[in-house]
Amino acid sequence: MDGRDLVRSVKAVGSVGTAQGVRTVRAAWRRRRADASGLPPRGAERARVPGQVRDVQPAPGGGTVRFGRAELRIVVTLGGAVFWGWDGAGPEPSYALAGPCPEPDPRAVLEPDKDGGWRVVAERVTVVVSRHGAVEVLTPGGVMLRRDLPPRWWEPVGGGPARWMQRSEVSADARFFGLGGRASGPRLRDGSYRLWNTDPGRPFGPGDDPLYITMPVQLVVADAGTHLVFHDSSWDGTVTLREGEEGAGSGHDRAGSCELRMDGGPLRCWVVVGTPARVLLAWSALTGSPALPPAWALGHQHARWGFGSEEEVRRIVEEYRRRELPLDAVHLDIDHYDDHQVFTVDRDRFPDLPRLAEDLREDGVRMVSIVDPAVKADPGNAIYADGSAEAAFIRDASGRLVRGVVWAGESVYPDFTDARVREWWGGLYEERLKQGFSGFWHDMNEPTSFMSFGESTLPRSARHALEGRGGDHREAHNVYGLCMARAGYEGVRALVPEERPFVFSRSGWAGMQRYGGTWSGDVATGWAGLRASLSLVLGLGLCGVPYSGPDVGGFDGFPSPELYLRWFQLGAYLPLFRTHASIRAGRREPWEFGAEVLEHARVALLERRRLLPYFVTLAHLARRTGAPYVRPVWWGTPEDRALRDCEDAFLLGDGLLVAPVLDPGTDRRAVRLPHGRWYDTVTERVYEGPARVVVEAPLSRVPVLARAGSVVPVRGADGGLELEVWAPAPGRTGGGPVVADAGDGWDEPELERYVARWEGRRVVVRREGDDGVCEPGRPVRVRGLAGAPGQ
Ligand code: NOJ
Repeated sequence: MDGRDLVRSVKAVGSVGTAQGVRTVRAAWRRRRADASGLPPRGAERARVPGQVRDVQPAPGGGTVRFGRAELRIVVTLGGAVFWGWDGAGPEPSYALAGPCPEPDPRAVLEPDKDGGWRVVAERVTVVVSRHGAVEVLTPGGVMLRRDLPPRWWEPVGGGPARWMQRSEVSADARFFGLGGRASGPRLRDGSYRLWNTDPGRPFGPGDDPLYITMPVQLVVADAGTHLVFHDSSWDGTVTLREGEEGAGSGHDRAGSCELRMDGGPLRCWVVVGTPARVLLAWSALTGSPALPPAWALGHQHARWGFGSEEEVRRIVEEYRRRELPLDAVHLDIDHYDDHQVFTVDRDRFPDLPRLAEDLREDGVRMVSIVDPAVKADPGNAIYADGSAEAAFIRDASGRLVRGVVWAGESVYPDFTDARVREWWGGLYEERLKQGFSGFWHDMNEPTSFMSFGESTLPRSARHALEGRGGDHREAHNVYGLCMARAGYEGVRALVPEERPFVFSRSGWAGMQRYGGTWSGDVATGWAGLRASLSLVLGLGLCGVPYSGPDVGGFDGFPSPELYLRWFQLGAYLPLFRTHASIRAGRREPWEFGAEVLEHARVALLERRRLLPYFVTLAHLARRTGAPYVRPVWWGTPEDRALRDCEDAFLLGDGLLVAPVLDPGTDRRAVRLPHGRWYDTVTERVYEGPARVVVEAPLSRVPVLARAGSVVPVRGADGGLELEVWAPAPGRTGGGPVVADAGDGWDEPELERYVARWEGRRVVVRREGDDGVCEPGRPVRVRGLAGAPGQ
């Protein structure tokens, strides 16, 4: 234990209370000892590069290129996604893929290229392999999108997993996005980003990295095209990015670069190329459609760590009702557990949860339960006894249970990388369902053991089933939250087959959208935290996880009324709209910040409720196409460089552009508009893009602009679905898809398609059907006519 460790340990003791703190330090010592004996030192290493190309072996979709000291397998699949893997690595097994690897595209074949290299030409992409093992991804027109230099491995002389490094170049104008949930994005600037899911142990801001969800998924946007690259290895790694620079005048361009270093796992990747929409479509085809949240989960949700009692929950819900503020769910945190133990209830303070749930439901409010993975290591704890009998908990190489410290004290952790354990755990949600919960909030699943010695998780030597392959925490760590989400989702689905499960999880990995969404974790209260919370939602959406949102108001401390309101207004346009805070923080109910804030928050809540049908449509579109609800402003025009750098506004679907206020003392703000006509949705003032315009942003609202021609389904005064249609620009047509809510089950509602066009001085809206167009069959309100010709 060196001096720094000691300081950290003392801090840990201070932060979690003395008894718990002592247990934390002890657990940390144990982890260190376990790693020292369970993971022998790497010893001497030998470096390797592929060497010179020797021969090739064609196969459907591509083939294998053999080099002196390595071999490379390339497959172009039928959907257009390209896979390549070194040293025999195939696409499976994979925690990211939703199913078996897609079929190879038989039209794509390996053929000789210049200078002794090889290439595979496919419909949407060309892959060129140099004779030294560099791999280039080119557009069909031959423009380079990415160039991977020959990789390098470091292999322990005495055997064991090889570390590897992959350096890549992208064009000078390219911008990087993704890598999971990053606080400093969405544009990922020069710097290092670690791939190791981490509970930072305190509220985070833009400077904190890594956070709870890291993913080796990059989305790169350049003039020549957009591509997504996914390195399918769950091991610890680091990505170092450097944006390129274009040479001024006759100067040379400096390419952008990316260096990925991994501590182990196969060197294999997937690349998809196309427009952002196409790339996300292909990505969700590979890794799975995002789970469709029930409509109530698209409304307003209120959580609090420390409701403390059933009466308090009732009181808060009643306050919402009395003040006529829409509320769709309340979330109960760990304080409703008995002694902080998962799947239990403190019956003194929450004597009749099923009754509470029933009463709330009558008012249209659902109850959501927090679920932590750690199980108190106490023989008197039924889950511990049951899990022990099932051999469900993680052990070390010598067979001893691995212990950590979480809220309930010394705890053990289920091994969610074991299908048998997932099934056992999934069955435990029956107790939650009986208590009346409708949704599940997975927490502390990085997995977290309270911080000491700089690492807040399990020993790397801890053993995991890894679906029968066997391995240790170095490989299992990053997929732990993903596998827990799967256990919860599949368990609830089996228990309530007629309803869609609602699960959201703090930690996860590529593919987690199959089981649900996430939230931004313990974001620090402050203007920087507000900005960071938008960065996370945008970045995760580009990695295929469309449903997320922040703790409105920030997790800690006491937001100023202005900050709270601006956060609330942002949250109202994000998929997960949830107020929440720490037990040590101030309250987050909208009436706690004065009459003015309450009135403006009411406007935001009512607008969210009015837009619910639009959110339902976006949820369905996300499931069908992978397109996130919340998209960067460059989504439809990635070639617009000024938009690529715009991080303070977003598109909500195709129709709306939201420009949240992210700075104090603001009553107007600049917005960069994509091309086309836009309307301020309150004043109906017309703006023409592409342009940078200044719009009004009074405290009462954040600017929202509607794209001319868009069809936005909204909730009418009678609760029915209406179409709000924004007049197309003169001489243009408009339209869009609408999916009506079909309840919480699995019924597949029809995708309704509407078109809007000018007929003389009127905008006429029609529904497109198989037999041509017909009357819309829904109330229509056309807006934006003030700027129309002849008006
Ligand atoms: C950490 C979570 O991020 C937070 O949302 C929750 O309130 C606390 N754990 C307590 O359960």
